[in-house]
Amino acid sequence: MLSGLTIGQHSVPFPLIQGGMGVRISGFRLAGHVALNGGIGIIAAAGLALNSANYDGGNFFAADRQALLDELRKAYEIAPDGVIGVNCMVAVKNYDEVVRTSCEGGAKLIISGAGLPMSLPGLTADFPEVALVPIVSSVKAAELIVRKWQKSYQRFPDAIVVEDPDTAGGHLGEKMERIGTGDYDQYATVRGVKDYLKDKWNLEIPVIAAGGVWDREDLQYALSQGADGVQMGTRFVVTEECDAGDEFKQAYLDCSKEDIGLIMSPAGLPGRAIKKNIDQVRQRDVDLNVYCPSACLKKCAYQTSRERFCIVHALDRAQKGDTETGLIFCGSNAWKADRISTVKEVFAELFPQEERAND
Ligand SMILES: Cc1cc2nc3c(=O)[nH]c(=O)nc-3n(C[C@H](O)[C@H](O)[C@H](O)COP(=O)(O)O)c2cc1C
Repeated sequence: MLSGLTIGQHSVPFPLIQGGMGVRISGFRLAGHVALNGGIGIIAAAGLALNSANYDGGNFFAADRQALLDELRKAYEIAPDGVIGVNCMVAVKNYDEVVRTSCEGGAKLIISGAGLPMSLPGLTADFPEVALVPIVSSVKAAELIVRKWQKSYQRFPDAIVVEDPDTAGGHLGEKMERIGTGDYDQYATVRGVKDYLKDKWNLEIPVIAAGGVWDREDLQYALSQGADGVQMGTRFVVTEECDAGDEFKQAYLDCSKEDIGLIMSPAGLPGRAIKKNIDQVRQRDVDLNVYCPSACLKKCAYQTSRERFCIVHALDRAQKGDTETGLIFCGSNAWKADRISTVKEVFAELFPQEERAND
């Protein structure tokens, strides 16, 4: 029988987190429906301002805050009793405000990567019921975070997501040249994190595997290898409820294994995406010399020296259906997408009725 997942004070019937996917790929609709179906739904905070009603081209950070509050409110309209959290990227300039806004808007978890979330417990100190979940890709990163949190805040993470750089979508926590070499072992890392927490701190919290989980077999394998649950992104893109435009979903349906590869983000991190249009993504902003209106990242090669592209606009364009010049982030399994399902269908396949405890 499958067991559910408890992170901090929050429990769900299924050991599944839907990974935060920016920009607006996992908005209120996807997160709300995942929560409604018994998983943890995550709204991606990155870049929400751009496509929001209040954005006038100059008020990025104010519009970002309002848009995040709106997304949370609408997600809870779908799943009033669901467990809904926010993915906050350390790399964004308004990280502190995004974290606090998430708490104010009722997020039950903050999942935080794209950098080490060293200050997270301090930012959420007024909201002890909000569970804190760092994303790491190595035991060392987990050690650094736990040591810092203990020393400065006497707080432990409520769970840790271990994200596999060889398979996950979006920004990756590993150097470009070390991805895909065969050196990384996802489940050795999961077990390494668990052993470290147990041996050093006598701590047992859920350690969640993210990256490359597509179907029931992958899920069962992850659980058999020591993970307490999985975080899935790519599979949820090809659902009716996913907040991306139809063209974005179609790009997944159309892509082949060879179309998926690594790009270098202006944030200085590698990312996995559908690569075949990457030259157009680059050329659009460089050719038009697009002005950076918001300086939304702490570190951005486009903002400082017009290198690469403006990532938040490139992701936003893709979300809205411009798959020619938009950046289409995806995990290594996107080529497996062959139909658009509902979130309910995905849950039914992953967790067959006979394995469900009481529902
Ligand atoms: C389109 C897309 C956008 C993503 N955006 C983010 C993001 O904004 N922040 C983040 O921490 N992870 C992001 N991710 C990573 C996912 O949250 C998730 O951990 C990962 O994709 C899991 O691997 P899978 O896609 O193979 O299931 C993104 C992934 C995808 C596919």
